[in-house]
Amino acid sequence: MRVYRPEAGKLVLREEPVPEPQRGEVLVRVRATSLNYRDLLILDGDHFTTGPGNLVPVSDAAGDVVAVGDGVTRFAVGDRVLNAFHSHWIAGRLPDTLVGYGNGQDGWLTEYRTVSEQALVALPDSLTYEQGATLPCAAVTAWTSLDGVRPGDVVLTLGTGGVSLFALQLAKARGARVVATTSSAAKAAKLTELGADTVLDYVATPEWGKAVLDATGGRGADRIVEVGGPGTFAQSLIAAGTHHAEIALVGFVGRGGAAVDFMDLFRSGATVRKIWVGSREDTEDLVRWLEARPIEPVIDSVHPFERADAAVEHFRSRANLGKVVLTHA
Ligand SMILES: NC(=O)c1ccc[n+]([C@@H]2O[C@H](COP(=O)([O-])OP(=O)(O)OC[C@H]3O[C@@H](n4cnc5c(N)ncnc54)[C@H](OP(=O)(O)O)[C@@H]3O)[C@@H](O)[C@H]2O)c1
Repeated sequence: MRVYRPEAGKLVLREEPVPEPQRGEVLVRVRATSLNYRDLLILDGDHFTTGPGNLVPVSDAAGDVVAVGDGVTRFAVGDRVLNAFHSHWIAGRLPDTLVGYGNGQDGWLTEYRTVSEQALVALPDSLTYEQGATLPCAAVTAWTSLDGVRPGDVVLTLGTGGVSLFALQLAKARGARVVATTSSAAKAAKLTELGADTVLDYVATPEWGKAVLDATGGRGADRIVEVGGPGTFAQSLIAAGTHHAEIALVGFVGRGGAAVDFMDLFRSGATVRKIWVGSREDTEDLVRWLEARPIEPVIDSVHPFERADAAVEHFRSRANLGKVVLTHA
């Protein structure tokens, strides 16, 4: 089988034997994968890595079960599946030890992979492989970030990355009002098309936290899907107002930014909840919900498996608007 492993910062396509599923494992023929910010960090050697340096990259995949090991009961040959982001977090509280795809164990940029049957979720017929492959990291993160959001709540999303677009779509489908930020007019138009009620340009309006207050009659957002980190947190805190909003602490794509003022945090009464994608159960809940309330994942482009390098460079350029997907014909 063909499989990518990084060597000196480059993706190298290698030939390796197709693995045999052991007891409790299935063999997945990968049909599609998608890229996330973390995959770039790992390729650049800039992310917490617990395994050897040349692990197969990429955390998200969808495919077919093509063989099963002894004792497998959850899946059969022919089943369509996607992976849960965390192979060892089934449900409940976050386990003490997590082993990430690409930074602690081999990931999914391969034609075949054996995996515990417990680490997979059934892919419904309503979703293509490409759509299914967009879900494990970005969509599940958006889903858990929005936990408890009620109709009428104001949700603030930042930028047009994978997590933020899913957060916008899921928040709208839950009946929330969405304020979204971005850095270009073209992307602003897409956010409006996807249902954003208010769109702010965070470059033209660096004090966008105040603009969120203005857009919400001074109240601010109820839920903030905070993907910007150091570059955005101080403004997010202003956008939170003083009514005990919840900030889902997701990521750190933003650079620079002001230091967080303790008194601003104190006054806001905001709860800060760290997100770690979600469990298999969260993934199953999301997939079940999507069957009842279909939303179409925003896919920017689909690249052949053989051109993974081009897909990575396109994603790295941030010219994409939506998920960058690879198909494994
Ligand atoms: N904790 C978790 O469970 C978890 C899970 C998934 C992801 N993450 C983290 O969440 C972050 C987002 O991941 P992703 O995969 O969605 O990223 P992504 O798709 O690479 O997001 C790129 C987008 O970020 C936006 N951005 C950059 N700087 C910004 C700023 N100052 N303000 C607002 N938006 C800004 C840009 O949007 P515009 O082009 O519209 O300006 C850009 O297109 C990453 O830090 C990732 O590591 C964490």
